[in-house]
Order: sequence, then C-alpha cells, then structure tokens
Amino acid sequence: MYGGGYIFSEPTKADQAAHVDDPTKLAEFEARIDRGEKIEPHDWMPFEYRKQLIRLIEQHAHSEVMGALPEGTWITRAPGFRRKMILIAKVQDEVGHGQLLYAAAETLGKSREAMINDLLSGKSKYSNVFNYPAKTWADVTVIGFLIDAAAIVNQVANSKGSYGPYCRALERICYEESFHLKQGHDAFIALATGTKAQRDMVQDAINRWYKPIIHFFGPSDKASQHSEKLMKWKVKMASNDDMRNQFLDQYVPKVLELGITFPDPNLKKNADGKWEFSDPDWDEFKRVINGDGPCNAERMAVRKYAEESNRWVRCALMNPMQPATLPYA
Ligand code: COA
Repeated sequence: MYGGGYIFSEPTKADQAAHVDDPTKLAEFEARIDRGEKIEPHDWMPFEYRKQLIRLIEQHAHSEVMGALPEGTWITRAPGFRRKMILIAKVQDEVGHGQLLYAAAETLGKSREAMINDLLSGKSKYSNVFNYPAKTWADVTVIGFLIDAAAIVNQVANSKGSYGPYCRALERICYEESFHLKQGHDAFIALATGTKAQRDMVQDAINRWYKPIIHFFGPSDKASQHSEKLMKWKVKMASNDDMRNQFLDQYVPKVLELGITFPDPNLKKNADGKWEFSDPDWDEFKRVINGDGPCNAERMAVRKYAEESNRWVRCALMNPMQPATLPYA
C-alpha cells in the first residue's frame, strides 16, 4: 500500500525467541562500533540492534507525524498572516521528518504499512508530549520553542550515533528544527514581552507544559529499560537524565530571563551541575504513553480518519493502470 522497498523480512516472534547471534560476527560488529564506524543497511548487525533501532526510529517517525496535529489545528488561528505562513511551513517540515524517518526504519526491514498499522492499533508508541491539548496560541509557542529545543538536544546527540541512515536523517532534521526553534523562541518572546493578558497566557501554557517536557526525555536512567543496550551500541549517545539535564541547563535561563516562571518550587541547579526537580508524576507519564492521556483518543481518531479518507490516493499511486498515474507525455 505504501510502496518503498524493504530489504529484510520482519522476524516473527518464534524467530526472535530462537535467535542467537554468531559470537565472532558480534565481536567484529562491536569492534566497529567502538571504532566509531557507521553501520549501513547491508552490514551484518545483531538481531537485537536491528529490533531496537526499528522500535526507536519507528516511534520517532510516528512522533513527527502525530506532532503535526496539535500545531496543525492552529494554522487558521495563528495571529496574523506571517505567523500562519510560518506555521504552515513548520507543520509541513514535521510531516517531512516523518517521511525521512519511516524511510530510515524501512532500511531495517519493517515495511511502512506495518509501521502505520502498529501506530493505528496502539502497538507502537509516539512521544508523550503530543497527547496534550494546544488550548491557546501560547501552547503553540511553547511547542515551537521548548519541545523543538528538547528534540534538538536529543537529535543532535544521536545524529553522531552508529546507524548511518538514522544519523543522516537526524542531521537533515536538525537543520530544520533549528529554524523551528528560532521561530518558537521569537513567538514566545513576543508574548512574554507583550500585554499582561499575553504574559498570563504564556505563563499558563508553561504551567501546563512543564511536566510533559520533563517527561519528554523518558524515565530516569534507573528506570530506563533500553538505555544500557542502546548506549553500548551508540544508538543513544547520552542517557535520558543527561539529555534532560542538558536541556534544563540551556533553556531554563531563557525562560526565566523573560520573567516567566516554572510551576516547580524545587527546580534548581545543584553545585555538581545536575538539575533537581519535584517528582514529575511518572504515573501520568506511563498513562499517557500507553494511550490514556488527555488527547490520545482524539489524536488517534484524526490519524485514522486521514488514513481511511486518503486510502484512494495511495491505491491510485500504486496502480500503474490508473490513468492518473500514467505519464502525460
Ligand atoms: N514518549 C513516549 N514514550 C516514551 C518516551 C516519551 N517521551 N520516553 C520513553 N518512552 C517509552 C519508550 O519508548 C519505552 O517504551 P517501549 O519499550 O514500549 O518502546 C519506555 O518508555 C521505556 O523508556 P526507555 O527505556 O528510556 O526508552 P528509550 O531508551 O527508547 O528512550 C527516548 C526514550 C525517547 C529518549 C528514545 O526513544 C529516543 O531518543 N527516541 C528518538 C527521538 C524521539 O522519538 N523524539 C520524539 C519526537 S521529536
């Protein structure tokens, strides 16, 4: 249905249970990783490396596509023509990032159709932050400024990782995300330095987005299930806590200098350079990533509607006998 070739067949559960990697090949592979070499789709790789990469890249791709939804609803309501044009371009970029990432995940053997099916059935996750409402224009500025900033911290680090197609996709994505961050910061400054009503609106947005942003980097290192393996194989280039810390280091001062505060009296940087914060309610995080956040049902309904109502376009493109897909000349 989606086209796009794929090289390997997706392993069944039985294949997975029975699989043992060749120890010589595994040692060679790990030596390559240690030397900082890139792994390419045709190279031998451990079963678990492939499986983890598919999981992570696929979730990342879904996040880009689902992330376009809260911002997309603001295109017609953005204040002024300039902000509307910028938002159209940003939303288009985000969907494009999804395309790049789905293509990178396909090189590992999972078809795009299978990935989309897993998103729609709830089997595959996407980022927690896109399951919260964008109630006001200030929410859109917080997404553009701080969520994009958080994404950049993660993606700049992981673009130096070991899997070639993912790293190259991340490099391209980061260039565009840097523009997104600049526009988000600009829109945030405009509100934070505006009228009292505008400042109140941006403060209210920060109050609601603070926890989801802390959650964005994933559970603490102690609770993270996949970090150890992913860091050993240089898929993740920093731990969840280190990335969260780097983000807080860079962006807390940028918010505070505008007179906006965070709704956490315990947020502070310690002498050892580590940020401390109140328990951000990890139960809420678990509920949201497992389908029970404030907007999960709504986001999924929109995605399913798009999938169904645009099916005819994909069918037409896949059918070489359809007149619309024949060359004109
Ligand atoms: N949103 C949704 N799920 C999340 C999450 C988040 N912010 N953070 C962690 N999780 C999920 C993980 O996917 C994993 O679930 P799974 O086993 O069902 O796949 C579980 O929580 C445990 O987390 P952890 O072991 O720490 O997962 P991880 O090592 O994959 O690290 C990320 C989590 C988000 C840091 C990592 O997946 C990543 O860097 N992803 C690529 C970037 C990305 O997706 N960005 C979001 C959009 S811009």
